[in-house]
Amino acid sequence: MVCSGSTLLSVLKGLKQLELVVTPPPDARPEVERLKAYSAPLEGRRNLLRLDFNENTMGPSPRVAEAIRAFPADQIAIYPEYDGLREALIENLESSPAGLASALTAAHVGLFNGVDAAIHAVIHAYGAAGDTLLTTSPTFGYYAPCAGMQGMAIGAVPHELPGFVFPMEAIRAALLRKPRILMLCNPNNPTGTRLQAAQVLELAAAAPETLVVVDELYEAFTGDSVLPSVDFRVVPNLLVLRSLAKTAGLAGLRIGFALGHPDVVDRVGRVTGPYDVNSLVVTAAMAALADQPYTDAYVEEVLRARNWLVTELTRQRAIYHAAGGNYLLLWPRRSSETVEAELRAAGILVRSMAGKPQIDGSLRISIGTTEQMQRFWQAYQAIDSEP
Ligand SMILES: Cc1ncc(COP(=O)(O)O)c(C=O)c1O
Repeated sequence: MVCSGSTLLSVLKGLKQLELVVTPPPDARPEVERLKAYSAPLEGRRNLLRLDFNENTMGPSPRVAEAIRAFPADQIAIYPEYDGLREALIENLESSPAGLASALTAAHVGLFNGVDAAIHAVIHAYGAAGDTLLTTSPTFGYYAPCAGMQGMAIGAVPHELPGFVFPMEAIRAALLRKPRILMLCNPNNPTGTRLQAAQVLELAAAAPETLVVVDELYEAFTGDSVLPSVDFRVVPNLLVLRSLAKTAGLAGLRIGFALGHPDVVDRVGRVTGPYDVNSLVVTAAMAALADQPYTDAYVEEVLRARNWLVTELTRQRAIYHAAGGNYLLLWPRRSSETVEAELRAAGILVRSMAGKPQIDGSLRISIGTTEQMQRFWQAYQAIDSEP
């Protein structure tokens, strides 16, 4: 039979309608089907006072903005090159007041699209289904989904109350069961719990078959980094995560570092794409690392602001917990979700910790500059006044 074009089209349309059977797409891996997407309330935050994600609240060094403006357009068409960035990080760490315990080379440094990507890669490289990821609770929310997508079990040891003290004895005991990974957030987000370098080294030495990962995202605000004391030849099972997001103000560009034994860095690098870190952030990171005085001045201002706020909180007999990091926990009189919403209406973002173990009912307040904390405190007092 010979059909005209339009007749053929209408026959095909008719067939299609008859055969339209709605089928679901194929399932992902069972581990992924069980996961809930990790979602953070990241939209609609511009032009508000951002005290909700522990970000730098002032922006990066002017040198970073200059370097980005001078970025040649033709470089956008070229895959990124990373020459010099690892060395610049090592030089920056060596020249910090505490310095480094042993000489590091480029092979000791892994580059990632943010520490989030480093966490994902480490757990992907080391964690298999049925293995355990040991950590504390409550802690940073991205460790659990990364473990979950590998089919790992999570051993979450609560902090000791009062004071959210690091549960050293319980972690030591859990290490006897040889978990695949021990994830330490130091200082811990959100409780600020601090671990001394000697404690981290003791745990790593006690569990040579466990990869001990120390997430030092906030170490600049209160010290305690293990880097001035670690020799990765002696402690090859330790990996340290660092970032320029919260101190140098590069959160939006995404850059994270993993420092450790070259073999560990190599294995983690095997599960990342060759160009996962973009050229623009390489330029920005080089500029940020070259302007350490800017970052130091920001950190000092945050510490001044923190002291100011803590003094006010104490004076007003507020219930709060301030330890490490550029954040603290504050328990409002009313529901934390209500106070969070009312502060948002007043142009100030904070994070309700509703539903989290041990800290339900609290707000996590990031610390910015003294002026910003004064603005926060004024609004907070008006919103959470005596009934
Ligand atoms: C403890 C901790 N680790 C890692 C991250 C993610 O850092 P990055 O922005 O470098 O991916 C955060 C961000 O909030 C964090 O709090």
